[in-house]
Amino acid sequence: MAERIEVLLSEEEVDKRIQEIGDQISKDYAGKNVHLVCVLKGGSFFMCELAKRITVPVSLDFMSVSSYGGDTKSSGVVKIVKDLDESLRDKDVIVVEDIVDSGRTLSYLLEMLKDRGPADVKLCTLLDKPERRVVDVKVDYTGFEIPDEFVVGYGLDYDQKYRNLPYIGVVKFD
Ligand code: IMP
Ligand code: MG
Repeated sequence: MAERIEVLLSEEEVDKRIQEIGDQISKDYAGKNVHLVCVLKGGSFFMCELAKRITVPVSLDFMSVSSYGGDTKSSGVVKIVKDLDESLRDKDVIVVEDIVDSGRTLSYLLEMLKDRGPADVKLCTLLDKPERRVVDVKVDYTGFEIPDEFVVGYGLDYDQKYRNLPYIGVVKFD
């Protein structure tokens, strides 16, 4: 099916907001190191941009979970596809996600990461769709709250396409 993409948040708006979150994290973690855990693949663009704007020392790690197929609906299944390389013990961890939708992925992931002995685990998401929440998840840093629409760009995909768009767009099928 052919789809078209309508701009929801421009590149400038997204960049400006990431700078603000970076400033906030730098302030909140003054005197500490932050360990950013990126949830692949969607969180990768956001994490890179965010990391560049954090002024306290940053270390990075990556993990990949799957909860979606090539569809726009959640399957509710969360599977670890790639685990972290490093231990989280005593680290100040911030999980960096592209979007919190039903909350299923993150609630599972956060519980699992908290069991690994970190000093602290916080959650930072570029986008949040609060209307879609099924499982309660505490988000510490949010880029934008958006309406219940399927979005792409800045790491987010539709069927593996559009991750590279430098803005956030809504997928329209017509
Ligand atoms: P949740 O478990 O329902 O919160 O889903 C989280 C994951 O679903 C995100 O990390 C995305 O990979 C994917 N997802 C949810 N909504 C969208 C969307 O609007 N566009 C692209 N991917 C989405
Ligand atoms: Mg994701």
